[in-house]
Amino acid sequence: MNQKININNLVRANIKALKPYSSARDEFKGTADVFLDANENPFGDLNRYPDTQQKEIKDKLSAIKKVATDQIFIGNGSDEVIDLAFRIFCEPGKDKVLTFTPTYGMYNVSANINNIEVIEQPLINDFQINLNQLQPYLDFEDVKIIFICSPNNPTGNSLNPDDIEYILENFNGIVIVDEAYIDFSAQASFIKNIDKYDNLIVSQTFSKAWGLAGVRVGVAYASQAIITLYNRVKPPYNVSTLNQEAVLKSLNNLEEVTQNIETILEERTKLKEALSKLAIVKKIYPTDANFLLVEVEDANKTYQYLIEQKVIIRNRNTQVKNCIRITVGTPEENNTLIETLKLV
Ligand SMILES: Cc1ncc(COP(=O)(O)O)c(C=O)c1O
Repeated sequence: MNQKININNLVRANIKALKPYSSARDEFKGTADVFLDANENPFGDLNRYPDTQQKEIKDKLSAIKKVATDQIFIGNGSDEVIDLAFRIFCEPGKDKVLTFTPTYGMYNVSANINNIEVIEQPLINDFQINLNQLQPYLDFEDVKIIFICSPNNPTGNSLNPDDIEYILENFNGIVIVDEAYIDFSAQASFIKNIDKYDNLIVSQTFSKAWGLAGVRVGVAYASQAIITLYNRVKPPYNVSTLNQEAVLKSLNNLEEVTQNIETILEERTKLKEALSKLAIVKKIYPTDANFLLVEVEDANKTYQYLIEQKVIIRNRNTQVKNCIRITVGTPEENNTLIETLKLV
């Protein structure tokens, strides 16, 4: 328990004072036969506005993840979860956030959009947090959010859970643990800690293990106080009816999701083995995600060559010298990649 935290003290003054938009459907609770309240068209299949609170999705997630529905926020991708955190907690031009690099690029982009300075701390010793270097920042009042991506993109490894707990215990701001890749990992999710730490936001997504990147649905799990703030600031209809339906279909078909994850993990092992036999491959980093960070002789050259062969991977040379990031694909896609690389 972090005794020093009072979430209200971290919130921007304009957000504290905000009178949120109240939609027609938010004001009416219950069932009715006639809806003439929202200026909708009476004809068609998708003529009604979506459920602003995504109740069915939250009910399902609540049962699966064992958290209360009022500790769940559904966003337009986890990118919305990230962006709203800036808008709730960070005063533009004044506050700062802290990230551990190399990491997911959107923390920086979102910070720039919101005019927030980013303090970057390099990960050390196989991409782990350097607590000694971090220590002075934990008491900085203007550092409002620490982003922890675990498993981390693009390195693939999970960050030490003891280090994450240390930060939760000792930092006076918000800690966002981005678990976009958690379903590919043997590590336990930090969701179990949302009752213990008022300042914890665990961000997950339907884009990776759930196979719904095109749908754009992300989830934040946090204390009720934080989720209430998210609900006040979000656009009222932030998740469309079609997107909610697609997620519900997946939530009702957990077996297929689990099966696909297993296939991806098997393919990850095979891909790693095949890559390790190639002369251009110098190192394959351990991964808890659905991708591999691979050091090659010359990342720019390999990347360019693969593009010419119409095989697209991610060049991460600017983040980790001579490294490429390869997503685990179908057996056919992985095979094409390996066969193409054999011809370099
Ligand atoms: C660490 C991490 N977080 C979040 C996202 C984005 O997730 P979403 O599609 O839910 O916006 C990504 C996408 O690559 C990611 O790597």
